[in-house]
Amino acid sequence: MIEEIEKIPNSNIMRDDLNFKYYVSGTWKKSSSGKMVSILNPYNNEVVGKVQACSIEEANEVITVANENRECWEEITQRERAEVLMKAASIMKEWALSLGFIMMREIGKPLKSAVSEITRTAEYFEATAEAGLQQEGEAIFGDSFKGFSRDKMSMTYRVPLGVILCIGPFNYPFNLTGSKIAPALMAGNTVVVKPPTQGAITPLFFGLILEKAGVPPGVFNIITGRGAEIGDYLVQHPLVSMVSFTGSSETGKHIASVAGMKPLLFELGGKDAAIVLDDANLELTADAIVSGAFSYSGQRCTAVKRVIPMPGIADKLIALVKEKTLKLSIGDPEKNSTIGPLINSKQCEYVQGLINDAVGKGATLLCGNKREGNIMWPTLLDNVTTDMRIAWEEPFGPVLPFIRVKSAEEAIQISNESEYGLQGMIFTENVDLAFNIAQELEVGTIQINGKSERGPDHFPFLGTKSSGLGTQGIKYSIDAMSRPKVIVLNLSERGKLVKQCKYD
Ligand code: NAP
Ligand code: G3P
Repeated sequence: MIEEIEKIPNSNIMRDDLNFKYYVSGTWKKSSSGKMVSILNPYNNEVVGKVQACSIEEANEVITVANENRECWEEITQRERAEVLMKAASIMKEWALSLGFIMMREIGKPLKSAVSEITRTAEYFEATAEAGLQQEGEAIFGDSFKGFSRDKMSMTYRVPLGVILCIGPFNYPFNLTGSKIAPALMAGNTVVVKPPTQGAITPLFFGLILEKAGVPPGVFNIITGRGAEIGDYLVQHPLVSMVSFTGSSETGKHIASVAGMKPLLFELGGKDAAIVLDDANLELTADAIVSGAFSYSGQRCTAVKRVIPMPGIADKLIALVKEKTLKLSIGDPEKNSTIGPLINSKQCEYVQGLINDAVGKGATLLCGNKREGNIMWPTLLDNVTTDMRIAWEEPFGPVLPFIRVKSAEEAIQISNESEYGLQGMIFTENVDLAFNIAQELEVGTIQINGKSERGPDHFPFLGTKSSGLGTQGIKYSIDAMSRPKVIVLNLSERGKLVKQCKYD
């Protein structure tokens, strides 16, 4: 691990061996609390490193510093901000293998997926720079509204909100902090990041990356420590202009309850349902379901989390899904096993509880229901009914229920009954029918003949109900992290001055 970190230039300034500091005002610091949090590798429980358990005072410090440095960044031109983001992207690409290796150790993500998360973030920064340069305002004359004339004209442009607090989840610790940092900076804001504790080390490298890319001291700051200890203070801080959060619906609802009067941009939990109709291409459908349900061991908000098949194809589809599931590689993330460890033992116990509940209530266990350490075998449950917890709860693990129905109406009803509304899927060759069903589904995005997923990252990405607040995706995030500023010109009576302007 240390060898990989030492490949990153100047990484020694951010750490003492594997004890990492937090970053404020362009300086790497140890917390005055004297406490640190150990990050354990979920695959083998080895200590990957330690991060500062920062104090409330240090939480105040990072926000105050970010606020004090707003002006210097607001005055930077759009072009210069775009160039900084592009430079940051090229640095990420240079360090992708090392950062991916660190991430793999931290969160048990397959090495290849971890590295691609770094490069995806670099591409996100590049696309944000390009989108930011296209941002324009508008001018409107009053006469398009009854009773007003062209003597009144509004001119609108966009301005930053101020200090953006970016809070990310463990499963994409680099990308889901970077996808907040980039639009925040491009919109002219300053930034405070609170990374997930499990997965805190990789996002800390944003301090090195952004400084090297040219972000002035104090514009970008990152503080570590348990959300349960410093989270409320950060969120409630009066100098925080907006909270951009990705994480569980439970935490999101808590943040919303304490944040007060400030914009909130949330990506939360999901229970994405795949509705499979009788005319679906079953090979394509089964591939999408297995990939969507089990990549990164199901630890994705957009994972396929329930399958609702029509009677005519249910048996065949389930047999295909089982055949493909049994072929999934299981084991060491460094060997790119699809099924690796869940993030911790507590999560494994939660998933096991869902399986036990379903089987206890009559679900048919098709495969899986086996655990070694934090690795849980991919588990398929057939004949799941709506009295079972797995029909409604988000496992964030490799367990997939099949809820058999007898009509499209029943499928829509069960899909919409969920508290979640992130994405949904419809598999059919009848696009007309797919559109009709899509219009009935209460979700942010419907995938037709494809697995639920966030990418590509310039698409709008949003959750309804308990799955989110607001819309993300590159240009949408830039807009969400800025606001219109309107200047209204009240001209003299049209032409009056012109007539007076004459010279004998
Ligand atoms: P989590 O437990 O909610 O934690 C998310 C982040 O919130 C972490 O940085 C956490 O810090 C912080 N936090 C915890 N309590 C806080 C508080 N009171 N105030 C402020 N911040 C606080 O979620 P997770 O376990 O990391 O991620 C898994 C969940 O996130 C799943 O439900 C998944 O569906 C959801 N998710 C959604 C999306 C999406 O795009 N919709 C993407 C990824 C994940 P600590 O780590 O220190 O606790
Ligand atoms: O759970 C993280 C969420 O953002 C999923 O991203 O691209 O794997 O669908 P993606």
